[in-house]
Amino acid sequence: MRIGVLTGGGDSPGINACLRAIVRRAHEAGAEVIGFQDGWKGLVEDLTMPLGLKEVSGILPQGGTILGTSRTNPFNKVKKNGETIWEPTDKVRKVLDTCARHRIDCLIAIGGDDTLGVAAHLIPHGLRAVGIPQTIDNDLWGTDYSIGFPTALSIVTEALDRLHTTSHAHHRAMIVEVMGRDAGWIAVLGGMAGGADVILIPERPFSVKDVVARLKKRLELGKRFSIIVVAEGARPVELGGKQVTQQEVDAFGHVQLGGIGYWLAARLREHKDELELTPRVTVLAYLQRGGIATAFDRLLATRLGVRAVELALEGNSGVMVGMQGERVVPVPLEEVAANSPRLVPDELIELAEIFY
Ligand code: F6P
Repeated sequence: MRIGVLTGGGDSPGINACLRAIVRRAHEAGAEVIGFQDGWKGLVEDLTMPLGLKEVSGILPQGGTILGTSRTNPFNKVKKNGETIWEPTDKVRKVLDTCARHRIDCLIAIGGDDTLGVAAHLIPHGLRAVGIPQTIDNDLWGTDYSIGFPTALSIVTEALDRLHTTSHAHHRAMIVEVMGRDAGWIAVLGGMAGGADVILIPERPFSVKDVVARLKKRLELGKRFSIIVVAEGARPVELGGKQVTQQEVDAFGHVQLGGIGYWLAARLREHKDELELTPRVTVLAYLQRGGIATAFDRLLATRLGVRAVELALEGNSGVMVGMQGERVVPVPLEEVAANSPRLVPDELIELAEIFY
């Protein structure tokens, strides 16, 4: 049995723990593992690297991915009559040829909705693949947790603890911009763990008027500082519910987000007389994706990696390993692609609001 592995999309701590688990479990079963570098690009351009016991030794806690990553897409995503169509390009044939050349029986793809979306769309073309959920955004359908999310939460929580002390001392409204394109998992759970006073997420468009009202209410209670956590994909009603974006667009048609924190600070400054709080902005950005993986992430990555290999050994294809409660279960990749992004449920959003 020959198993190929790739890591695609935004990286996160825990990927290397997963690669280690894949290699160790495959080795135990006498299967060979071939690494493809830089996501789907490695399959298109036939960029391999050996992935044996030696290569995965000592990488358990390390962030990043020893395979490298990219946002290469062998399909063209086009909108037709409001529907998104994945049109195959000549790169699809190249991916399949590379797999055939290396006699890959099953390809394990580690990534978020884009990377696993490619796997799902390659299955009808004859690819045999198993997916592993990995995105700090935690927005993949079919799994409670994706690799990287637990570590991102810890990073955000520690940042909020630190920002609390300085905003308290200076009587400031500290705006903390976190990642979260379509779903506010990091903002809601990180914000709750770090004691945020206002949490703004893509799921619920917000108005500056409401934010000002909340800050004023805290001032009336004698609280002369506030922590506002805003997801990069949050949608102000003043912008017609549109997200604040940058210029760059990736191969999956996603425009780079970022800037909502500074946008909000400028709006709050317009209310400085009533608020008596100076706004300041901290953009956590790529810090959320860097550094060593937490214990939870290492264990999650290990369990998902081992199960993915076992599913491949049993001859499965077209599934993602999902963590559901205490169990790791196979979920059809097609369903993952069709139902992602998984949004934060109302009850969690309302739970966070109790602490505003
Ligand atoms: O992988 C998810 C994510 O972290 C998003 O939250 C964010 O919008 C995006 O990646 C940033 O990606 P890039 O690394 O391409 O700037």
